[in-house]
Amino acid sequence: MNLTELFEYRRSYRRFIEEKPVAPECIRDMKMSLRLAPCAGNLQPLRYIFVSDRKLLEQLWPCLHWAAYLPPQLGTPAEGERPPLVVMVLYEEGKAGRMVSTDAGIALCNMTLAAAAHGVGSCILGNIERDRIRAVLGLDEHTVLFAAAALGYPAHRSTVTDMKEDGSVKYYLDENRDYYVPKRKEEDFISER
Ligand SMILES: Cc1cc2nc3c(=O)[nH]c(=O)nc-3n(C[C@H](O)[C@H](O)[C@H](O)COP(=O)(O)O)c2cc1C
Repeated sequence: MNLTELFEYRRSYRRFIEEKPVAPECIRDMKMSLRLAPCAGNLQPLRYIFVSDRKLLEQLWPCLHWAAYLPPQLGTPAEGERPPLVVMVLYEEGKAGRMVSTDAGIALCNMTLAAAAHGVGSCILGNIERDRIRAVLGLDEHTVLFAAAALGYPAHRSTVTDMKEDGSVKYYLDENRDYYVPKRKEEDFISER
């Protein structure tokens, strides 16, 4: 994959091959990309939990909420399509600087690109049930669950399209349930002086 292909492939995937675990070499590169991510003041406040244990996944899957623009029967992965790996991004209350959200965004970007380079699809998830997840993973109330990322081998395609005249940002599906994701044209939001 060249750089453009990598960025095109790194879409949000919401259906996966549930029975196919993420390859160890991919997990190794994801961890490497988290270690090497830049962060404000080099404070490194973030922690990660990689969950691939089936019993834990069974409890985590219902805590993840998918595809706000789609009805659940289209946007939420069904049995057999759920992600075989969920990564939780967290930090300890009071131990992170004010740029921690930026740090987490960069880390998630690094990690999902590293995964994409191995053909592994992902979906960053902000809409998660934090109290339930804390209980499942045995985390105390001082642990801030920032976000999650769902990962696995994609069971659908996702293609970027030029945003239409109506300016809608809503992704949509075709009859095969493949995704199309409208993006603004470069000239519509990037200028040079
Ligand atoms: C910070 C963040 C939080 C997100 N939260 C969710 C979520 O809770 N559920 C979901 O299905 N997608 C979530 N997404 C995925 C976005 O919907 C997706 O990135 C957007 O629609 C553009 O699609 P693309 O990633 O294929 O470019 C999130 C993405 C980001 C960056």
